[in-house]
Amino acid sequence: MSAAREHFGSRLGFILAAAGSAVGIGNLVAFPVAATKSGGGAFLLIYALFVVFICLPVMMAELALGRRTDKDPVGAYRELSGGSKLWQIPGWLALITPFMIAVFYLVVTVWVLGYLVATLTGNLDMLATEAYFGQFINSPTVFAYLVVLMLIINGILALGVKDGIERAAKTLMPMLFVMLVGLVIFVLTQENAMLGVQYYLIPDFSKLTPDVLSKAMAQAFFSLSLGMGILITYGSYMKAHQSVPGSAKVVALTDTMVAFTAGLLILPTIFHFNPQIDPTELSDSSAGMIFLFLPKIFYALQDNVGYVGASAFAAVFFFLVLVAAITSLVSIIEVPVATLRDERGMDRRKAIYTVGAVQVVLAIFCAVSFGMVQWFTEFVTLAGANKSFFDLVEIIFYDTILPLNGLLVCLFVIYRWKKSNFDKELQDGDPSFAGSFSQRYINFALGTFIPVILLLIFINTVALKFF
Ligand code: PHE
Repeated sequence: MSAAREHFGSRLGFILAAAGSAVGIGNLVAFPVAATKSGGGAFLLIYALFVVFICLPVMMAELALGRRTDKDPVGAYRELSGGSKLWQIPGWLALITPFMIAVFYLVVTVWVLGYLVATLTGNLDMLATEAYFGQFINSPTVFAYLVVLMLIINGILALGVKDGIERAAKTLMPMLFVMLVGLVIFVLTQENAMLGVQYYLIPDFSKLTPDVLSKAMAQAFFSLSLGMGILITYGSYMKAHQSVPGSAKVVALTDTMVAFTAGLLILPTIFHFNPQIDPTELSDSSAGMIFLFLPKIFYALQDNVGYVGASAFAAVFFFLVLVAAITSLVSIIEVPVATLRDERGMDRRKAIYTVGAVQVVLAIFCAVSFGMVQWFTEFVTLAGANKSFFDLVEIIFYDTILPLNGLLVCLFVIYRWKKSNFDKELQDGDPSFAGSFSQRYINFALGTFIPVILLLIFINTVALKFF
């Protein structure tokens, strides 16, 4: 076992690393599209309420578990449950979930990397043809990009918490903010941009169906990196006495602001290209948007700024998505690495090799799920439809287990670890929290309706996806 646990060097370092985890592909594309299709400003309002009243308490609970124990999720649950066998289950789920989500997220990030390289090498015209995507994801080049991506991520992880994760976040996150704002400013000066802003912001409360609410909730939950053991792990690297509630608020705010700002990029871009478009017809899938739809729009920008200008715009966009995805992958792969170190006493390097080796194999299974290998492409039949290996991983771990993990965190913190201990942890570093309205709200919500909501989402997903 390592002698002294590594910690983040500063409060800002922790915040940027956690925000790096939270800001991902979900923020940049899925969020703006979902918002526009589901009531614009009305969706934004509901989403913000979900973040503040449901997700923030769960985030604080995860961070507190990590900071209290200084351990990976498996160790944290074991320690605070007094070694209970039953409570080991959420610990193991908080290990396998990030492990598997990383696998499918890796594959999508590989495609982003491929699109960035293609753009930089002057091939935006090719990307703008829909056929390119199918060819690209079924070509052996994806394996080469997978190796490159694994080297980048594991290279960062190998440098450790402070010199790797924290330093990468401190470099990459400011870059991401600047690129995002730069693209927004450019696009807002283009013709018809304001039509997109209107669609994005004008509220339509009639669109807020139960289905939309549950989607908004799932989106907020995923976006804040909850239910994946990430915040337990990052919490364990927090400096002693750093305020959990205060830091959680800044992370949640940053994540939400980035998602909101991404809407000011995506919608105006789409409307500039096609002011007649009916945004409800946009694809629900982030991959569909990033790889099929947006490249066409980027290509069309050449009428305004020439081919090189359009390529530059597209390259900055793909780079932005890549940076967001890399900081998320770093955080998610750190979870199994931390577990192997804490639970098995492995050194960082060995843990990275072990996790990386298995992940590469599984990521390859996912990557060949799009036609390259029939067996993985038609892996199972669920709810009467053929699902690939990639789909299956996403359905099980992202759609289904994520809310279950959130549910278990709430129940564990309130009923097993106990409110009084949780409260003490939140007050450490934030004395004004004691007895505050927030504290009473958080205790009440985590013990009552938040788990109920997560349970409903879980049941609904199981019913929908599996039967
Ligand atoms: N918050 C990330 C996103 O929005 C979710 C995520 C975190 C995914 C970590 C993978 C790894 O994309």
